[in-house]
Amino acid sequence: MPAPHLHPHCLGVDKDAHVALNGHRPRVVWLTGLSGAGKSTIADLVEQRLFAEGAHTAVLDGDNVRHGLCCDLGFSAADRDENIRRVAEVAKLMVDSGLIVIVAFISPFRAERDAARALFEPDEFVEVFVDVPLRVAEARDPKGLYRKARAGELRGFTGVDGVYEPPEAPEVRLDTATLGPAAAADAILDHLRANGLYVAR
Ligand code: ADX
Repeated sequence: MPAPHLHPHCLGVDKDAHVALNGHRPRVVWLTGLSGAGKSTIADLVEQRLFAEGAHTAVLDGDNVRHGLCCDLGFSAADRDENIRRVAEVAKLMVDSGLIVIVAFISPFRAERDAARALFEPDEFVEVFVDVPLRVAEARDPKGLYRKARAGELRGFTGVDGVYEPPEAPEVRLDTATLGPAAAADAILDHLRANGLYVAR
């Protein structure tokens, strides 16, 4: 909670001003799923497609953000909560600046994802479940981390000895065992367009 003597400052260039300049509304596209599900690759493709159409975008990716803003955090439940809280607040600032923000974090806890959603207007937050069976993610093991987790060298690895709570009602569910990254990115863009959440200039 902020200290009681703090008061927010109203900015002259508000969200509506950004919308008028950018020609599109801001959104958060929140990708959640196991390590190795394809979140980062899909986030990258979604941003490239939006960018190519002249949209104003940003990507917040777990592995990247953990090298800077969240480099002090580990993988305990409390640290993951704090990781997601910070990222949601950064996404909020970016949305206030008119950006379409694509967030790619495991974000394993439903309560934290719901808390993130609660920061935004209805329709502003689009939850995308990047769904893949554990055995498929583990077979991919792009960073060799599942192998380390099974060998006991990494503790609390999501899906192995760390919990993952799947979304109950995500706006989009992508089965990335059968859907490649390009098709997955298309499905997200299709959802945004079909629901009037993104209209190209
Ligand atoms: S989250 O759970 O707090 O949302 P986040 O998305 O930031 O996780 O970071 C996940 C990345 O950290 C994974 O892609 C993986 O490369 C790395 N990592 C290292 N240790 C763990 C662990 N114990 N569980 C999951 N991911 C881990």
